[in-house]
Amino acid sequence: MSESASGSTHRVPPASGVFRRKPIRDDGDGGLERSIGLWQLTAIGLGAIIGAGIFALAGPVAKTDAGPAVTVSFLIAGVASACAAFSYAEFGGLIPQAGSAYTYGYAVLGEGVGWFIGWDLLLEYTAIVAVVAIGVSQYITFLLDGFGVDLPAWMLGAPGTGGGHQVDLFAILLCLGVAWLLNRGIKTSVRVETWLVFVKVAIVLAVIVVGAFYVESDNFDPYFPYGLSGAATGAATVFFAVFGYDAMSTAAEESKEAERNLPKAIIISLGIAMVLYVLAATVLTGMQNYQDLADAAAFGVAFESVGLDGFAKVVAFGAIIGIITVLFSFTLGASRIWYAISRDGLLPAWFAKTNAQHSPSRPTWIVGVVAAGIAGFVPIGDAAELTNIGILIAFIVVSVAVIVLRYRSPELPRTFKAPLMPFTPVLGIAFSIWLITELQWQTWARFATWFVIGAVIYAAYGYRHSKLGQGQVVQTKDT
Ligand code: ALA
Repeated sequence: MSESASGSTHRVPPASGVFRRKPIRDDGDGGLERSIGLWQLTAIGLGAIIGAGIFALAGPVAKTDAGPAVTVSFLIAGVASACAAFSYAEFGGLIPQAGSAYTYGYAVLGEGVGWFIGWDLLLEYTAIVAVVAIGVSQYITFLLDGFGVDLPAWMLGAPGTGGGHQVDLFAILLCLGVAWLLNRGIKTSVRVETWLVFVKVAIVLAVIVVGAFYVESDNFDPYFPYGLSGAATGAATVFFAVFGYDAMSTAAEESKEAERNLPKAIIISLGIAMVLYVLAATVLTGMQNYQDLADAAAFGVAFESVGLDGFAKVVAFGAIIGIITVLFSFTLGASRIWYAISRDGLLPAWFAKTNAQHSPSRPTWIVGVVAAGIAGFVPIGDAAELTNIGILIAFIVVSVAVIVLRYRSPELPRTFKAPLMPFTPVLGIAFSIWLITELQWQTWARFATWFVIGAVIYAAYGYRHSKLGQGQVVQTKDT
């Protein structure tokens, strides 16, 4: 994307209180070339949506939570995400600026909520990087194994995930490697990203078409071995697969006709991903009995189980290439949100300093190192839950904000309106709360700890150093 990492400031009357709000319409232009069209924007969305959720989580969730009804889990998660996607689309058209839910929350519900969501997104995006790195690592191991490379067990996964596992070394190296590349100013350009997404979608389509020939209807019986509640529990985990379009708003400042194209790209990318997920999950559970599915690299193992060893390697290779786009999107997304929060004065400006390559290298390294720590030592399911609670809360805030703004400022020029107002966002809120209740209590406890730390930092530092509190509005350009 752009190499620029600067921003501009203009003055407004100083505001006090945790409900002070940034202006909704900011007439300043980020000054970046607006070159990204609708289909490239959709590709960026697919680049961040399709990843570890389908390739690494569908198998274990089918095995332990949902059985073949993992497809239903994907559908439940997809409906919940679609309700929120309409709200994101409305905001995407109204506030086409970087920062996603942090920016929307700050502008509509005030600084306190904005801070809370920004803080929430920092943890969530960092945990996403970890989950995705674990997913890629599984397929690297699978591929090397297929070529006869015998790796020592200690480096193949977090403790407790398999015999002799002590650390997921590939996952750690991936997190650090991506942070290093981003800090050298190397970002997947939109053109490269579009090609990688093409590869990823082609692989998923190939999985569906080839796998369809090996589906045995017996494998769908019973379809709900863990009952409907199993499918619901599964939905709370595979929810990981159905977001990512929220990270797309960071490209908003560089897109042509962002007000029109961003909402469309959000809806189209989620729609395409959902169709692919439902078909791929059906094929996976149709090829192998759910009890036999592998805990790691399930798609590769399923194709091996029907004798297609060569194709299994192609799938693994495609998964590695394809999922890496998610790793880039979210490492970049996390460092940008960190950067935006720091420029707004809610965290020290030290974090917003950019390096010679115009990258906010400090937050990028922090995200890379923390994600590496999670990826190396936490099982993928636990890390995914931590992510999901964060994104579900962001979904709730964005859905509330869209309702509040509709009633408070009905006159604003909305290029896209969430349909059936307020039914859709209310349904999104209800679904999100329900999915949160399906998560383990340990996930809630970890999240509550993060929230308390955030509240202390805001009270001790952010509230007093807020630029808005000093009468300055900072427009954060994309980095
Ligand atoms: N939805 C993204 C994935 O599945 C985060 O990897």
